[in-house]
Amino acid sequence: MPTLPFVTLKFAISLDGRLATRTGDSQWISSDDSLQLAHQLRAEHDAILVGIGTVLADNPRLNVRRVDGRDPLRVIVDGSLQIAIDANVLRPEAAPRTLIATTTTAAATRIAAIQKSGAEVLLLPNEPHSQRVHLEALLMELHRRSIKSVLVEGGAGIITALLAARLVNRMVVAIAPKIIGQGLEAIGDLGITKLRDALTFISFQTARLGPDMIFDGLLKEQ
Ligand SMILES: NC(=O)c1ccc[n+]([C@@H]2O[C@H](COP(=O)([O-])OP(=O)(O)OC[C@H]3O[C@@H](n4cnc5c(N)ncnc54)[C@H](OP(=O)(O)O)[C@@H]3O)[C@@H](O)[C@H]2O)c1
Repeated sequence: MPTLPFVTLKFAISLDGRLATRTGDSQWISSDDSLQLAHQLRAEHDAILVGIGTVLADNPRLNVRRVDGRDPLRVIVDGSLQIAIDANVLRPEAAPRTLIATTTTAAATRIAAIQKSGAEVLLLPNEPHSQRVHLEALLMELHRRSIKSVLVEGGAGIITALLAARLVNRMVVAIAPKIIGQGLEAIGDLGITKLRDALTFISFQTARLGPDMIFDGLLKEQ
């Protein structure tokens, strides 16, 4: 088994398991208290990772604001380098601690434009039969750089891919007392057809935070 960082998934969902409405609106599903917890978790991890879909939808800053603590390394998974050059994570104050993980098929002109902002572009192998970033290869490289813990904040594509590859150690989910109906499901197909194959937890805690319920569990290795 390769040595990998400890991976925590953190996201907020509605009571019916949605990460966002069907138009992609997700700010904010959870309460102000849960946002505070999100910033606490950022301060406790070496890196924070999101998919390009989240950057395009929300343009997050991915820094620590609501608690004291240092900003983790920002990692954006972007297989075809779609990130906008004026994205918040590429602004002058953020770019030197931002890493864009992409594949060896990325266009040289886009790589150069992003590097000009001061961010690093990391070229990785792609997942078999797709142009997507090989997530285990990314985690191995982060570990090689002494990144021992990674907080993944979404979105659905990255959450699903990491769970499908069994690369997640801990899940912190804020469940808000809201019902959205049709929308973006937090976790897509994991290829599980029998309940006995469901992902389960070694241990978990639940707590009330403002109006939200917080689930915090350690996944069983499967
Ligand atoms: N409620 C919450 O806590 C929360 C948190 C975060 C986001 N969100 C919401 O979630 C939505 C974004 O989710 P999303 O699923 O569209 O995007 P995402 O998970 O942020 O990014 C997915 C994209 O990452 C790229 N990618 C590269 N390698 C990949 C791999 N191995 N596996 C999976 N993806 C890979 C793919 O684009 P390429 O193929 O182009 O590389 C893919 O389309 C937004 O509406 C956002 O507001 C909600």
